[in-house]
Amino acid sequence: MRISKRLEALYEAVNPGESVADIGTDHGYVPILLLQNGISEKVILSDISTGSLAKAEENFRQMGIEIPETCFRIGDGLSSIEPGEVDALIIGGLGGRTIRQILADDPEKTATYRKLILQPRNNSGELRYYLYQQGYDIRREILAPEGKFVCEVIVAVKTTEEKRTPPYDAQDIRWKYPESMISCNPELLGQRIGWLSGRLLEQVESLRKSKDVPQERIRKLLEQRDYILELEKRNKKYHEEHYGEKTQCN
Ligand SMILES: C[S@@+](CC[C@H](N)C(=O)[O-])C[C@H]1O[C@@H](n2cnc3c(N)ncnc32)[C@H](O)[C@@H]1O
Repeated sequence: MRISKRLEALYEAVNPGESVADIGTDHGYVPILLLQNGISEKVILSDISTGSLAKAEENFRQMGIEIPETCFRIGDGLSSIEPGEVDALIIGGLGGRTIRQILADDPEKTATYRKLILQPRNNSGELRYYLYQQGYDIRREILAPEGKFVCEVIVAVKTTEEKRTPPYDAQDIRWKYPESMISCNPELLGQRIGWLSGRLLEQVESLRKSKDVPQERIRKLLEQRDYILELEKRNKKYHEEHYGEKTQCN
């Protein structure tokens, strides 16, 4: 069983004693870790694909871990679990819009689970926007490497029943790179910001070559770049102040 830092981050977001449903579990590695290390007594493994779930069952068999057959469930999103059946939901390795769809299918049911541990492969900004609208606050932002990618893990809890009007639109850079990322691992955040900063400059250069130079678009792209570079600076300062030379691994 090869556990990536991304899967480790999902596992570490669960507190001892919390029961968990891993939606879109596939290999079932996170539930295996939770049981092996005595973090959760109850885990539910759910997947829309019978083939994926069979993989998880086989991995449990190989690891010699026995749980009731009823803990392995087939279903789309949250359809396979009862309201409030577990403390926390893990939904990892899916696109941000698919995760949002799973949560939005039945928001009242989603609200019965105390904690959401989400790892969107893309469109994380749109997912944070949705969480904000629905009254969830983000408790932790974690960055974890996997191959050449840096993955985002979002830990959110519902703090208000009120629907909230987001302060900026869903595409705003501040959803994709929220202020709360100042506590993330500086090396990983720096890697992401370096990449994006380069992309933004490329776009600006290419726009400057156009016949009618779109000054307003260029101004917005440069504004985004300034924002992420400032976030990177604050992230480094935060780590120097809190950890000195050492960096915290998230
Ligand atoms: C890329 S795998 C991710 C596996 C694991 N969660 C991880 O983070 O490594 C995505 C899994 O989600 C399942 N899946 C996709 N859409 C789903 C949905 N709407 N409901 C439940 N499972 C879904 C797929 O069948 C697949 O097994």
